[in-house]
Amino acid sequence: MKVLIATQKPFSAAAVAGIKDIITSNGHEVAVLEKYPEQSDLVAAVADAEALIIRSDKVTAEVLDAAKKLKIVVRAGAGFDNVDLAAATAHGVVVMNTPGQNSNAVAELALAMMIFMARTQFTPATGSEVMGKRLGVQAYGNVGRLVGQKAKALGMDIIALDPFLTDEQIVAGGAKPVHSVEELYSNSDYLSIHIPALPATIKSIGYDLITKMPKGAVLVNTARKEVIDEEGLMKALEERPDLRYVTDVMPDNYEALREKFGLRVFATPKKMGAQTAEANMNAGLAAARQICDFFATGNTRFQVNK
Ligand code: 3PG
Repeated sequence: MKVLIATQKPFSAAAVAGIKDIITSNGHEVAVLEKYPEQSDLVAAVADAEALIIRSDKVTAEVLDAAKKLKIVVRAGAGFDNVDLAAATAHGVVVMNTPGQNSNAVAELALAMMIFMARTQFTPATGSEVMGKRLGVQAYGNVGRLVGQKAKALGMDIIALDPFLTDEQIVAGGAKPVHSVEELYSNSDYLSIHIPALPATIKSIGYDLITKMPKGAVLVNTARKEVIDEEGLMKALEERPDLRYVTDVMPDNYEALREKFGLRVFATPKKMGAQTAEANMNAGLAAARQICDFFATGNTRFQVNK
């Protein structure tokens, strides 16, 4: 079988070598398409691929139409909003993710971003400490739980909202449960977002929620830019000069935000939450193993388009 690794933002060389090793030692072939400038490059490259390993690369209906032999796509990472699941299902293509494999990298970045903002973006201005502050975690899954547990070690008080977990599960994960977004936002000095981009969550965080946050609060987004209502964010920051926003997913209106609010906002130029040697290795190798296992035994654990 031919496995294509298609990554606009490449894995580390060591991770690529590890992926190739797993695939070839299982009797399959590997092709690599990295840093491709156009979506049409991906469309052309998938023509003879039977399996595809991607990161945030866009697997659209056009890609799936062109991939006549494709049987499986593994998103090496957690969020799969970049894959057209309905089109994949219609083409009989199995889609999987690799949950948990890059969570630690994202959690560490969320904490780093909190401290970066607490210390006024590493400028000499007097900053503050995170110890003793309350952190709200929106979705207490693989990443959220790690953020909560690490922040607790820094002396923060953790509250979490997760409609898919029981109170007992949230408590066992080291946080105090809250039961509405309003309660979460009203009580969080720092608010770390870990919800996926879904029709129900897109633009769900806007003016009303953001302005509920306490004085001096910081909103931290290492999830997806789509979950923020950017106009609402702009209005909230205008009305509340005490609020700040830091994100690993550059907003469309970042230039305007930065011009208006200076050091109160910060966005990384390119999504870097999962961009560590360890996360590349964990997620990349997991993707390769899942593909080989799927071809060898039909294992569809981690399939997300069931
Ligand atoms: C994920 O959903 O796993 C993260 O957003 C990482 O995305 P990336 O692989 O494009 O860095």
